[in-house]
Amino acid sequence: MDKAQSTELLFELSQPGRRCHRLPESDVPAPAAAELLPRHQLRSTPLPLPEVAESDVIRHYVNLSTRNMCIDTNFYPLGSCTMKYNPKRHERLAGLPGLANLHPLQTDASVQGMLEILYDMQAYLAEIAGLPMVSLQPAAGAQGELSALLVAAAYFKEKGQKRTKVLIPDSAHGTNPASAVIAGFEVITVKSAAGALVDLNDLKAKLDDQAAVFMITNPNTCGIFEKQILDITRMMHERGALVYLDGANMNAILGKSRPGDFGADMMHYNVHKTFTGPHGAGGPGSGPIAVRDFLGPYLPAPLVAKNSDGSFYLDHDRPKSIGRVRSFFGNVGILLRGYFYLRTLGPQGLTEVSEQAVLNANYLLARLKDVYEVPNGPRCMHEFVASAKYLRRDKKISAMDIGKRLLDYGFHAPTVYFPLTVPEALMIEPTETESKETLDRFAETMIRIQNEDPAMLHQAPHTLPISRPDEVRAAREPILKWTPPQHAS
Ligand SMILES: Cc1ncc(COP(=O)(O)O)c(C=O)c1O
Repeated sequence: MDKAQSTELLFELSQPGRRCHRLPESDVPAPAAAELLPRHQLRSTPLPLPEVAESDVIRHYVNLSTRNMCIDTNFYPLGSCTMKYNPKRHERLAGLPGLANLHPLQTDASVQGMLEILYDMQAYLAEIAGLPMVSLQPAAGAQGELSALLVAAAYFKEKGQKRTKVLIPDSAHGTNPASAVIAGFEVITVKSAAGALVDLNDLKAKLDDQAAVFMITNPNTCGIFEKQILDITRMMHERGALVYLDGANMNAILGKSRPGDFGADMMHYNVHKTFTGPHGAGGPGSGPIAVRDFLGPYLPAPLVAKNSDGSFYLDHDRPKSIGRVRSFFGNVGILLRGYFYLRTLGPQGLTEVSEQAVLNANYLLARLKDVYEVPNGPRCMHEFVASAKYLRRDKKISAMDIGKRLLDYGFHAPTVYFPLTVPEALMIEPTETESKETLDRFAETMIRIQNEDPAMLHQAPHTLPISRPDEVRAAREPILKWTPPQHAS
């Protein structure tokens, strides 16, 4: 491999005196450095920047970019993460200078167009949720959860009720208990019963007057619609508790079923998943929350509001608000993409999204269920969880081996080992944007892999520059900056 195509860093390619371009000597006399900055702020030695040619830089970055597996290059069935294709039209619209070049400190009067978009976005999200009050501020689903729980805490505090517990099913995403703890609640875990549904007896046994909120994901993280949801929400309301809907799985029910209609009092959206904000590799996100009227006063302020003359303003006059949870209006770049997605599709289009997402998931389930165990039945919503439990027992092939081997065949791995209630879990979410041909190729590859040599699978992937990094160490001890060899320990 050519040196510039190798894994070497630009620092390692550096040669003294090499340059990308040479500018003519400036004929403007340079002021002495000390005139620009106080002496104690001046650098005493030059920065050790890489000295490279333009072609080195271009090849380095282009080669790095081709190592990325992303939704624009590969099928990406990452369950719970909803990696659907991000339409390029929305990228272009969100990048229009009139939107992208605004400064967040401009006056309301000078950003009327943006405020109108955000106002409409609040209204669309309220309509889809069946919950009338919306804050666009939270920057991700997890922050939406935390914000809504703080809203609940403020509500109960004002009512003079001491409610200290948040009940959460054992199949929930890890951010649910984490948010509850950060908001100051005690977490009570509710068991799942057969079929991955909430165990109503366990819920009843754990529900008392200290319960503030029940956090439920519907469809749940096994891709099953909680058909007892009306009983659950009634049970919680009878004890004076609130119901929170983790909306990460809204892709399954858009236009079909509204959280507010089945009894949720609060919910978050993951705009970056459900409404196609690009979000691989950790961000940026957007996690607006929608709540019932009586919780509206506690929402993070400001909200976008409309004057009687039709103009828009940021409403800061919200004395009961929990305050800001994010600077300015939230992650506007992602909200804009979500807005254009909603405007492009309209109500009918959104309904078709969830129909197609559910159809695609059921098609894959049907193709795989005789080869991989699918513990929660022959039907699913927008995703399903298969298990490599028997493959592990009989052939020593793990969910991780399968996920890694898929990379060799050009597929991103499904989510593995989540939810924790399914051993050797492979959580597969094809989304609505994939064709039958892609689904067939994926199914055939999954079927083929479980017949491959286990010893070879343990070493997979074999075709990628990096095979099996130590993921735990990479997460716990990330090396985020280059250290010159002479300084490395
Ligand atoms: C079910 C569920 N809830 C909550 C979250 C948290 O969302 P975010 O990653 O936007 O913080 C996720 C994210 O993967 C999820 O899958």
